[in-house]
Amino acid sequence: MRTEICDRLGIEFPIFAFSHCRDVVAAVSKAGGLGVLGALSFNAEQLEVELKWIDEHVGDKPYGVDIVIPGKYEGMNELDPGKLETRLRAAIPARHREFAAKILADHGVPELPPDEPRHQELLGWTQVTAAPQIETSLRHKKVRLIANALGTPPKDVIRQIHGAGLLVGALCGSVKHALDHKGAGVDIIVAQGAEAGGHTGEIGSVVLWPDVIDAVAPTPVLAAGGIASGRAIAAALAMGAQGVWTGSLWLTVQEADVPPAQMESYLKATNKDTVRSRCWTGKPCRMLRNAWTDAWEDPSAPPPLDLPLQFMVAMDAVQRGRRYAEQAKNVNFNPVGQVVGQLNTVSSVKQVMYRLVQEYFKAAERLASLMPAD
Ligand SMILES: Cc1cc2nc3c(=O)[nH]c(=O)nc-3n(C[C@H](O)[C@H](O)[C@H](O)COP(=O)(O)O)c2cc1C
Repeated sequence: MRTEICDRLGIEFPIFAFSHCRDVVAAVSKAGGLGVLGALSFNAEQLEVELKWIDEHVGDKPYGVDIVIPGKYEGMNELDPGKLETRLRAAIPARHREFAAKILADHGVPELPPDEPRHQELLGWTQVTAAPQIETSLRHKKVRLIANALGTPPKDVIRQIHGAGLLVGALCGSVKHALDHKGAGVDIIVAQGAEAGGHTGEIGSVVLWPDVIDAVAPTPVLAAGGIASGRAIAAALAMGAQGVWTGSLWLTVQEADVPPAQMESYLKATNKDTVRSRCWTGKPCRMLRNAWTDAWEDPSAPPPLDLPLQFMVAMDAVQRGRRYAEQAKNVNFNPVGQVVGQLNTVSSVKQVMYRLVQEYFKAAERLASLMPAD
């Protein structure tokens, strides 16, 4: 399973694990893969705390950080984060906030206590909010990769990360995006098929992976979307991927910071229970279908706003969903891919990594056994 990317990053297995949870990130890197922390919901101070914790728990292993600088978003030309948030708030129609509040009220999700600190609505969805996250990440020597979602990282961002000696990754859902990434100087391209959890395009993994691999060769490609088994890793490497980038798989591990009620929703779901919808963030995102996603599809619903406005509308629901996961069970934000149907038990990160490697060997042996004996 050892590919060139393993040597470049100093890892044993080319298994990349995206997670918002520091425990998962550290455990994957310790088990020989590369944990990548999703920084979206942390401001610079919070991210500093998370990265310091990972540094202390990851031994001498490397890890990565994932940021979100979309290629296109509302308010792109505003460079002051405070002014940007004020401007965006003013652009949100009252009807959207009322509609969101009504869904929560209809399902009996309590309001947050008045003294509970409200999460900043803008999060790290923009270049100005991602910039301090990058600066923070670059101060941590075990961070070896910074990956960007939703667009080609701006040239100055790539220069800054390269200048610090790190690799730059970027996710893509089409050959065009992949070529844009390559042209900008991205080192590792993550080709993410439509079945993936989170923001995703329309082309399925088995079609997208080889198309992207051929288009950007010799730039290394990681295959993403639908991988939760060693068999799928073998398929990706057989197609020419240098490794795999996984997300959904890590939502149901023991280390995941997922409230029990939400974990139960993931464990029970089948591969038919997801939907690609704009109703949480404004961009097409795959998640479990539930009463919230259905409500926004109803003809009486206001059309979802663009990113990041729709997420600003939904932020209250995200926070209430985390705090009152049991009451919010039918309206919670549960981003996950179609592979959720294969996630039916809870095991530790170490057990999952061991299983992936064993299954990979079995698949490789099966292929080898099909070769004619000479
Ligand atoms: C809960 C969840 C949140 C995600 N958030 C992000 C994100 O903030 N940034 C990002 O680059 N990718 C994000 N993704 C996508 C993953 O990085 C990864 O590409 C995807 O999960 C791979 O497909 P899979 O879910 O079938 O494994 C997210 C995925 C999930 C499941």
